[in-house]
Amino acid sequence: MTTKIGIDAGGTLTKIAYWNENNEMVFERFLSSDFLKVKKWIESNHPNASICVTGGRAEQLKVHFSSSEEIPYIVEFDATMNGVMYQLKLGAFEPKAAVIANIGTGTSIHIMQANKHQRISGTGIGGGTLLGLGMALTGISDFEEIMKQSKMGSRAEIDVLVSDIYKNNKLPIKGTLTASNFGGISINHTENKSNSDLLAGVQGMIGEVVASLCIQAADAHEVEDIIYIGTTLEDNELLQQIIQSYTVLKLKKPVFLEKHGYSGAIGALLENTKNF
Ligand SMILES: Nc1ncnc2c1ncn2[C@@H]1O[C@H](COP(=O)(O)OP(=O)(O)OP(=O)(O)O)[C@@H](O)[C@H]1O
Ligand SMILES: [Mg+2]
Repeated sequence: MTTKIGIDAGGTLTKIAYWNENNEMVFERFLSSDFLKVKKWIESNHPNASICVTGGRAEQLKVHFSSSEEIPYIVEFDATMNGVMYQLKLGAFEPKAAVIANIGTGTSIHIMQANKHQRISGTGIGGGTLLGLGMALTGISDFEEIMKQSKMGSRAEIDVLVSDIYKNNKLPIKGTLTASNFGGISINHTENKSNSDLLAGVQGMIGEVVASLCIQAADAHEVEDIIYIGTTLEDNELLQQIIQSYTVLKLKKPVFLEKHGYSGAIGALLENTKNF
């Protein structure tokens, strides 16, 4: 039987979802900088596969395949939303409306209502920022190492809290909120911070910027659930915890899906399965 494969060729990572011989959905991931590896993996493991592709780099990936037939393409946002809804259904949790934030290389924010979705906002602060700014500040480029180090870090001297500014004054808002990400370094002259602290600071900035935008979007559209996806969240408890606590503080419900980064690939696979 032909293997059906869904591919999401993203700015940083290429994600693959496919059905194995036991009809289970399985996953693979490659760097988008090495499409040749993707091609070789498909050729050696699933030479006659039927492929459907999505993601911003879909066209760049396609040129590596000399297939006589055109490889079907599904629009990234449609694939991602379908992948999200599929996972929600599996988890028996299907909110009528939700804000969905895809924290990929950059971050894209969507509203899903009555099975329709629309992109409403976004920010360049995302997973690429974690890798890029993290590298610029510490020289560390490996995602796993960034995870390990940032987990051990403290943001106490990196950021300024509202309570740091309002010391003996009556607080106008919660004192534990961040008043300034990285502001502490200049205010307290705490340069030469450890790599762990700097990376924890980067995670804090990303989580708080993304969560803030999502909370505003949820308020504007009067929805409670905010679904956070994207490979940036994978094995990244610190970022999840930052996003979780800020979202809960603002009385919204954060939802993390098990397959953080694979929604687009799942959507492409479902599209592919539908066509047969
Ligand atoms: N092994 C890894 N190598 C590189 N980045 C990783 C790895 N594991 C997790 N990441 C994080 O995942 C981010 C990419 O997330 P994701 O795969 O969702 O984005 P993308 O689809 O490639 O980008 P976009 O959707 O913006 O085009 C990286 O920027 C990085 O922060
Ligand atoms: Mg993506």
